[in-house]
Formats: sequence, structure tokens, C-alpha cells
Amino acid sequence: MKVAVVAETDAGEPRVAAVPETVKKMIGLGAEVAVEPGAGVKSGILDSDYTAAGATVAADALNGADVVLQVRRPQGAELSKLKKGALVVAIMDPYGNDAGVRAMADAGVTGFAMELLPRITRAQVMDVLSSQANLAGYRAVIDAAAEFGRALPMMMTAAGTVPATRIFIMGAGVAGLQAIATARRLGAIVTATDVRPAAKEQVESLGAKFIAVEDEEFKAAETAGGYAKEMSKEYQAKQAALVAEHIKKQDIVITTALIPGRPAPRLISKDMVASMRPGSVVVDLAVERGGNVEGVSADAVTERNGVKVVGYRNVPGRLAATASNLYAKNLLAFLENLIDKKTKALAVNWDDDIVKATALTRDGAVVHPNFQPKTAA
Ligand code: NAI
Repeated sequence: MKVAVVAETDAGEPRVAAVPETVKKMIGLGAEVAVEPGAGVKSGILDSDYTAAGATVAADALNGADVVLQVRRPQGAELSKLKKGALVVAIMDPYGNDAGVRAMADAGVTGFAMELLPRITRAQVMDVLSSQANLAGYRAVIDAAAEFGRALPMMMTAAGTVPATRIFIMGAGVAGLQAIATARRLGAIVTATDVRPAAKEQVESLGAKFIAVEDEEFKAAETAGGYAKEMSKEYQAKQAALVAEHIKKQDIVITTALIPGRPAPRLISKDMVASMRPGSVVVDLAVERGGNVEGVSADAVTERNGVKVVGYRNVPGRLAATASNLYAKNLLAFLENLIDKKTKALAVNWDDDIVKATALTRDGAVVHPNFQPKTAA
């Protein structure tokens, strides 16, 4: 069983899908591991670190690989290097990318989309959305603090008292909760909102105040998968009015709201940004899905009336070494589930819940029910 580790071709992707520790473990599982040259450099891992862990580093690492580990979906020339039937494990970003998914099927590779993992206990160790969102939440607070012209904690000094900064976190999922915890550790006064009722208790347990319209729709708003539902226009209007009043009094706002497979909900209008005091900072973590903040620019800090709007893409990549380390461990756990420990060979159980939920393409076809080609009516 040959496992290949890809050097990402997207210039905006500094992460890597295996680290020396996971290479060793894969070899222990019976794999021969080949790494493309330079794959880990942007995450602080040298080719020699991989060879020390037992891998070979070679330009033709993908040749004949049975399993290919990468961060992003293979595209174009990358696909032609893969052998038919190779198992490719990555963050596939399949929503709205039908042609890219189709190209993988046409290349005859079996693609597993890590973001489609079911949120069951057994899959937690493999959950790339959680491991990466957690880091994004942390980094969002660090980025906000770096752009903000004041200190975050209250400070009592001989020269006078500095008030604590007010930070409002919108969306209290994995990223939002880590943002709350980070902002609290830095001494800010933190409030947060979410459309899922379960978030209220989690927000409060981290020492932040929960801000939301808590009507009947709110109380019923959570899917079986634990994700947010799209809310009615009426609810959105009521919530927007509450949020508009709240935002005026905030120094920093961090938005993290997502609904799987949908454009990011628009939470902050240009008027709301304009209502903030000069020097305030808004960080939008949803910019890759269209943004929660009206007028946000990707990979830029834009300033309007002295309010900065920060819209970095791939925020986990801004902590590439940590992000790669956790991502690599997620992928190792996923791979272990595909290997027979006794024979040390690949043995994919196609009836396994984790395999079924993540398999996107197989045997030349797009097999995932959510991404079937639209048939003519
Ligand atoms: P996500 O990344 O899809 O969304 C981020 C947050 O934005 C969510 O909390 C969502 O409710 C919120 N949101 C969506 N629309 C909004 C709006 N209009 N206004 C305000 N907030 C809005 O979600 P994420 O972070 O992946 O987590 C979703 C849930 O899944 C959480 O409860 C999390 O704790 C849970 N989870 C469960 C796991 C398991 O294995 N059981 C693993 C990881 C997370």
C-alpha cells in the first residue's frame, strides 16, 4: 500500500496533509509513504524531516499511489498523475463545484470529502471542520487584536484605568466558541449570538453573554446534524434589529456564521459597520462562502470611516504548522478506518457510515447523493 502526500499547488494553501509523526504511524500501519518535494515547507516541515520519519521524498510521489492525502481537491494536471482507483482524501469543497467533482470522477479516482464526515462520536477524531475551525476562531481574535489600536484587557495603571474592549462574536459554533474563549483569556468583555438554541448554554459556560431574539422559531432551530437552519425572513429582520443596536457599542465584531452548502448568511450591513466608532474592527471568517459582512474584500483589510473590515481567506492556514499537525492527525484516523490491521492492506468497508457519508466519487461516477448531476426534468 503506497500513500502519497501532495505538495499543494494552490498558492493560498500553506498546509500539508501529513506530518512526520503521522508518516511514522502510517508506516506502522503497513504503508510505504512518498512525499512530494517541499510539501511541508510552509508548515515548517523540511523534506529531511519526512525522510527521517521513514518516507521517501520524490517528484513522482503520486505515481502508483493507492492513497493520496492532500488538503485541497486535486485539479487539472494533478488528476492526470493519479492512478485509476486511487483513494484521494482531502477537503473537497464540493458545494457549487460540480465540474471539479465531475473531473475527479472522470479521472477514475475515489474521492473522499472530509468535510462531509457525519458528526458521530467515532468520527470526532477525524473531524477536519472542527480542528480547522477551532484554529480559525483563535486566529480571528489575534488578527482583530493586531488591527485594533487599543489594549484588550482592563488595565489599572498609575496613569489611569484602561477600559476592557468589547468583543461580539456572531455564530457560536466551533470557531465562535474558540473565539469567545480566546477573547476572554485576553481580558475582553465578550457577547455572542447564534441561531441554534443549544449555543446559548455553551456561550454562557465560557463566561460570555448571549444576545438573540429567543422566540418560538429560535427554540426550534437546529437540524438533526447539529447545524444551523436557514432562518425565516421575519426572524432575520428581528435579529438584525437587535444586533444593529448591540453592534454600535462594540469595539470588535467577529463573524463565523455558516450553513453547510449555502452561501454565508449576511449578518452585518454597511450601515451597521458605519454605526461603529472609528478604530473598531470587524473580522469576517465566512469570506470564502461570500462573507457575513456586506462589502468585505477577500484577503484584505478595508477601512471605512475608520472602521477596519478584515476578510482573510483560509484563516487556519495563517497558523499553518498547527493546522497541518491537526489536519494530518484527522487524516491518519480516517485512513486507519480504511485499513485492515491484520493484513496491513486497504480494506474499505463501503457500508461503513463514515465511508458512505464522505465518498464523493467512485468508479468513474459521482456517488454522493447530495452531488448527483441534475437530470433534465
Ligand atoms: P458551522 O461552521 O456550520 O457554523 C458556525 C456557526 O454559525 C454555527 O454555530 C451556526 O449555528 C451559526 N450560524 C448560522 N447561521 C447563523 C445566523 N444567521 N446568525 C448567527 N449564527 C449563525 O458550525 P460548526 O462550528 O461546524 O458547528 C455546528 C455544531 O456542531 C456545533 O454545535 C458544534 O458544537 C457541533 N459539533 C459536533 C461535533 C460532533 O462530532 N458531535 C463535532 C463538531 C461540532
